[in-house]
Amino acid sequence: QPSSSDAEAVAAGQPLSSGLDPFAPGFYDDPYAQYRHLRETEPVHHSPFGLWFLSRWADCHHVLRLPGTSVDERNSILEGRNEALEQAARDRGARRSKSILGTDPPDHTRIRKLVSKAFTPRTISRLEGRVAEVADDRLDAAAAQDGPVDLIATLAFPLPFQVIHEMLGMPDTVEADHLRSLSQTVTQVLDPVLAMTNTEEIFVASEELGKVIDEAVRWKRDHPGDDLLTALIEAEDDGTTLSDEELRDNVTLLYLAGHETTVNLIGNGLLALLRHPDQAALLRDDPSLDAGAVEELLRFDSPVQFSRRIALEPFEVAGVEVAVGELVMTGLGAANRDPEKFGPTAEQLDITRPDANHHISFGSGVHHCLGAALARLEGRQTIPRVLRRFPEVALATDTPEWNGRMVLRGLANLPVDLGRDT
Ligand code: HEM
Repeated sequence: QPSSSDAEAVAAGQPLSSGLDPFAPGFYDDPYAQYRHLRETEPVHHSPFGLWFLSRWADCHHVLRLPGTSVDERNSILEGRNEALEQAARDRGARRSKSILGTDPPDHTRIRKLVSKAFTPRTISRLEGRVAEVADDRLDAAAAQDGPVDLIATLAFPLPFQVIHEMLGMPDTVEADHLRSLSQTVTQVLDPVLAMTNTEEIFVASEELGKVIDEAVRWKRDHPGDDLLTALIEAEDDGTTLSDEELRDNVTLLYLAGHETTVNLIGNGLLALLRHPDQAALLRDDPSLDAGAVEELLRFDSPVQFSRRIALEPFEVAGVEVAVGELVMTGLGAANRDPEKFGPTAEQLDITRPDANHHISFGSGVHHCLGAALARLEGRQTIPRVLRRFPEVALATDTPEWNGRMVLRGLANLPVDLGRDT
């Protein structure tokens, strides 16, 4: 159990005495050192945040697929503990999100089926050419800049943003920078630290984002097209369609998940390659490695580091009893470097690793990422393209700035010198 001084430290944002400590110096540069220590000493760790942290692949995989668990926050004993959050919710008459990410079966099953009807593998595979075109445009924009180029601002963010924006068929009145700032605030709710400290901001941004999406849906009803938003409005199964709230919350989810994650696949992936020039050279010279390299980059520095489950009934994991209502954070990033799963070289980057795709970066079980095929396509069309167009590309700093997020781990910027443009 955590000491009371650790509980006070969390409240004050001070370093903790043990366990997983996001306040420790250097945590965001390298959380993997802490994960390793936990995996070796306390793989089922009870944190002073009041949560369990799992760091072994087998435990995470097991819990993600365990019946009798929930993703609905209302089932958590932590719900209501954050008085500021509760008050802000009451003041604003907030309602529970109906996005599939926070909904359990049977509603989850029904809504996911409807959303999947619009978001089909065929829709994704048709996008390949367009994604390549957007990537080329972004690299033209990078080449036109003088001095070091920030690959987050120039490529890693705008590419997935533009792709999901076009896929949904959003009206042009929706302004990218404004939406980015809203989505960056709203997604802080996923982060155990930021959710506690930035409560009011998160509510204000969620409300505003809801209005933007509502307006887009209204507009789309009058301007249907060959796009995902129209398909979601029209999706029907056994005579049922998505309710207005379900539609709004799931469009919001697709919009946010569509770029707040892939930005980190591209950013973290490029950083890993630039820090391992031998691996970058291997990939640059051999397109047959593209798909495997993306799997390895997803494994090596996972864009989403944690997922969560709440116990609806008591269960045991690695000999530890989790009680009803307790919240378990499954450490996807930690699990992906577990030597019991990936062998003694688990901490190393190896784009030829045959079992890299056993990572759980997209989760597992009924909530497995709906956008995995799109994210993989975007990774494949972007990351090797940078290396092939700019064969001398190199980091312009040894210490790029991280975004300070535990869950959506990524870079705030990635300055590079592009070198020769082929
Ligand atoms: C769910 C990761 C990209 C849409 C998830 C989950 C993870 C994840 C870990 C499962 C959460 C859980 O088990 O609780 C990622 C990563 C991505 C990515 C690492 C990029 C590299 C995308 C994209 C989209 C998307 C591009 C859509 C455009 C979704 C949706 C869900 C989901 C809708 C909810 C599925 C459900 O609850 O049934 N994602 N995602 N994701 N993702 Fe992704």
